[in-house]
Parts: sequence; C-alpha cells; structure tokens
Amino acid sequence: MKIFVAGAAGLVGSHLARRLARDHEVVALSHGELDITDSAAVVRRVLEAKPELIFNCAVLQVDESEQEPGRAQAVNVDGPRFLAAAANDLGAEVVHFSTQYAFAGEPLHRPPYTIDDEPRPVNNYGRTKVAGEAVVRAACARSYIVRTSWVYGSGKNSFLCTVANDLKAGKKVRVIDDIWSSTTFVEDLIERVMTIRGTGRYGTYHVVNEGVCSYYEFALEAGRCLGLTRAQIDPLLEITHERDMKRIAPRPRYTPLRCLLSERLGLPPMRDWRAALGNYVRTG
Ligand SMILES: NC(=O)c1ccc[n+]([C@@H]2O[C@H](COP(=O)([O-])OP(=O)(O)OC[C@H]3O[C@@H](n4cnc5c(N)ncnc54)[C@H](OP(=O)(O)O)[C@@H]3O)[C@@H](O)[C@H]2O)c1
Repeated sequence: MKIFVAGAAGLVGSHLARRLARDHEVVALSHGELDITDSAAVVRRVLEAKPELIFNCAVLQVDESEQEPGRAQAVNVDGPRFLAAAANDLGAEVVHFSTQYAFAGEPLHRPPYTIDDEPRPVNNYGRTKVAGEAVVRAACARSYIVRTSWVYGSGKNSFLCTVANDLKAGKKVRVIDDIWSSTTFVEDLIERVMTIRGTGRYGTYHVVNEGVCSYYEFALEAGRCLGLTRAQIDPLLEITHERDMKRIAPRPRYTPLRCLLSERLGLPPMRDWRAALGNYVRTG
C-alpha cells in the first residue's frame, strides 16, 4: 500500500513512518518538507504521492496552542482539513490523531471517557483538536479519528519518554501527582491503528493502554521496571502538584479513555499500561 505521513518527524509520526516502511511504500514528510497549513503544498504533495492512506501526525502542542491561537487554528484545524480534503479528492482514507484533552477531566475517578461523552475541552489545544476532528469528518467520509493519551516512546524529550532513563541515571525528577490519564506506548498505538484501519470501520476511536495512572505512578512503575526498590526510587522523585507547575495552558485532571468502537468490533483490550511500560523500559 502507498501511505503518506504528514508531521513525520514527531513522536507518533517518526515511529509510524519507520514501522509502516517495513511492509508498505511510505512517503513521510517532516514539517520542513511539508507545512500542512499551506493548502497548495498539501494538494501538490498528496497528488504527487497518490497514496491510498494518509496519516496526519502534525500538531501544535498544548502551551503553544494557548500562546498562539492563530497558529493553533492553522495547524490543528485548517491543516487537517486540507489533508482530509486531499484524501477525499483522491479516494484515499485518512487517519487523524486527536487527544484526551477533548474532555474536561472532571470529576476525579469518573468512568473512562467514551465517544458517547460530549467533548468539553479546558484549553485552546483541546478546542482546536476537537474542531480538527470535526473538519476531518466533514471533509472525508473515509476517516478514522484516533484519540489517544499520554503517548511515549523513544526519541522525544518529554517526561513520559525520558523518566525511565533519568531514574536509571540516578537523576532527580519532578513528578506531578494530581493529574491522571490513560497512557499509550507508541508501538501499541501504531499496531492498534493498523488493526482498526484493517476493519474498514470508519469512526472515532480511543486508542490507549488499559488502566489509569498519574505521572507520579508512571514514574514509580518505570523505576520498578528498572529493578529499583522504593528505597532507591523515592529519593529521586520530587513530588509536585499541577498548580505549582505554572504551565501556560490549564490541563484536565482526570481523562482516562475507553474505546466503545473497538469493543463493538470485538478487538481485544490493549495490554495493561504496566506491561506496555515494562516493554518500553526493556527495549528503549
Ligand atoms: N504525545 C502525546 O502524549 C499525545 C497525546 C494525545 C494525543 N496526541 C496526538 O498525537 C498526534 C501526534 O502527536 P506527537 O506527540 O507525535 O507530537 P509531536 O511529537 O509534537 O510531533 C508533532 C510534529 O508536528 C510537526 N508540525 C507542527 N506544525 C506543523 C505544520 N504546520 N506542518 C507540518 N508539521 C507540523 C512538528 O514539527 P516541528 O516540531 O518542526 O514544528 C512535529 O514534528 C497529535 O495529533 C496529538 O494531538 C499525542
């Protein structure tokens, strides 16, 4: 199959492009090679490649979306619309990634969010991502919207991606203990997305590893997977609270996800977050 990946240098895009290249012909374009906010460039690149399947992995991140609403609209809404429209004109399918930040995250310990829950984002990233989902659905009926959450894997400088290596190196890490969500090992995300795509059932999916944890619990588990004892881990963790982080955009507090469509399709649950994290810690 010929597959087109936009935003291919990011965490999801880079892993996806590498994994798909084993079995498919992949045209993977980084931001430098294709700016998805440039509609003419999107049309030109997609027509050149003539893919059967387009992945949009480009995104403007959370705090940047709060600071630069115009750019957030362009990258998280307009660009996805250009890609989905190009897919539609070509008769191709599109996979567009979205986020647990579609939801408000209240109250704590509520049941996991499903597609039956009304999106109610608390920041501009969430608002533009929800708007991006809608324009993709409207522009291309052959679309899979994949909401995921707290994705980690090799190659990115983010807490979830680096905490295991930091603990291994004996470095102190700051961990937030009052925000919870589902976590997702990027390799598991990609495998499940390809399974979903193979079903041909278009719609909105929630793709995450089973279970819920806080950043603090994630760090504890990463340490445990490394074979460290609590006596070794605890002095390395500096516990903090979300309000003390003074981040630019507010974060929802409790956003675990559950996938009704996967359940209806009879797909098995994704593996537990601890098993997935253990795999990441062992394999890097
Ligand atoms: N990572 C997570 O925890 C997480 C959680 C939930 C949902 N998601 C979703 O998963 C998808 C992928 O996220 P990710 O974690 O892989 O993000 P990422 O690592 O930040 O990668 C995003 C990529 O998009 C590129 N980009 C930004 N503006 C662009 C533009 N105008 N045209 C083309 N490319 C552009 C960035 O390039 P530059 O850096 O060069 O600008 C970057 O390489 C997103 O839809 C995100 O909402 C991720």
